[in-house]
Amino acid sequence: MLLALFFCLDMATLKLPGLIDPHTHLRDPGATHKEDWHSGTCAALAGGFTMVMAMPNTNPPITDAITLVATQRAAAERAVCDYGIHLGAGTDNVAAAAELGPQVTGLKMYLDQTFGPLRLDDLGPLMAHMGQFPKETPILCHAEGRTVAAAIFAAHLFDRPVHICHVSRKDEIELIRAAKDKGINVTCEVTPHHLFLTLDDCAHIGAGKCEVRPMIATRADVDALRANLDIVDWFATDHAPHTLMEKESALPPPGYPGLETALALYLELAHEGLLSLDDLIKKCCDNPCRDLKLPAQENTWIEVDVDAEWVAHGAHMRTRAKWTPFEGRTMRGKVTRVVLRGETVFENDRVLAKPGSGRNVRPATLQTGSDDIVRQLGADKQIRRPI
Ligand code: NCD
Ligand code: ZN
Repeated sequence: MLLALFFCLDMATLKLPGLIDPHTHLRDPGATHKEDWHSGTCAALAGGFTMVMAMPNTNPPITDAITLVATQRAAAERAVCDYGIHLGAGTDNVAAAAELGPQVTGLKMYLDQTFGPLRLDDLGPLMAHMGQFPKETPILCHAEGRTVAAAIFAAHLFDRPVHICHVSRKDEIELIRAAKDKGINVTCEVTPHHLFLTLDDCAHIGAGKCEVRPMIATRADVDALRANLDIVDWFATDHAPHTLMEKESALPPPGYPGLETALALYLELAHEGLLSLDDLIKKCCDNPCRDLKLPAQENTWIEVDVDAEWVAHGAHMRTRAKWTPFEGRTMRGKVTRVVLRGETVFENDRVLAKPGSGRNVRPATLQTGSDDIVRQLGADKQIRRPI
């Protein structure tokens, strides 16, 4: 069933469009010992992703022109795949966020506790962002349980689209289905870990490593996500790298690296008969492109040996996190080649692209390379150095 003739190069090699990961944490600037724009985008290419969207909970978080320019610069110097940047919604950046809307791929709103300082507890800023952020650019909500309902209702009042990140629970996916049935403009994503892991897996993953937000859930929740895949708009890795030492510490930060294991898991859903190859392409390419208004990547594709089996070992991965919650799992399907805008950028397990060759899909109007503009902003003294 996987080997749809149209995509088949030979009996085992599948040619797919470059995958898009709309939810990636790259930690640059601020925590490059966990990941930077180079290590993270190398992991992306190895996993078959030719475009990633970076989340704003960096240090400092991306919430204004100065922090956006600093991130655009880091990405312009180091990225090896194409990228967009999501801005963070804070309590005091409603006007600034609306103004920066055209330069970013989304506005990320954290309505529940997770890693980093961006959390909106009050209704006031939530409503203000919903009302003022440009409607062409989606608001992406980290919402769990009741906040899923709050986010959908608030967006609906302003007649604007809203996207619910990493849906993990039965109640949530059923609520989203009900909202979609009513014609409400809501989209959602699920992650590979919420589709494959349950709380029972924490016994062998280890308590600290298992921490993730939203927390992995029960078998009933996993089954509900799998039963509702038809209304899931995007697959997203929520690649959230932290080092092994951090994950095994007394206060483990939540998050799993995911870029290098995602495609094999998506293909496993197809092998299980839960997903067609067309569905996979819709969730990994067409739908994120449609909702985030991303440009097409011309002459861009990946080649995947669908029969190749390999064992997931964090120590062999490109992510600086060097661990995976899927350690020891036998995976089926391996990326053998990635072609980005006509250039072979990954082959024989090697990244061939030069740092800085990745392109911003929202070309910066504040020229990232221009010291003049940074000076005009008064940003030259204010760009905080990574800590
Ligand atoms: C993410 C991180 O580490 O940045 N952690 C996580 O558990 N998913 C933050 C987030 O996406 O909630
Ligand atoms: Zn995330």
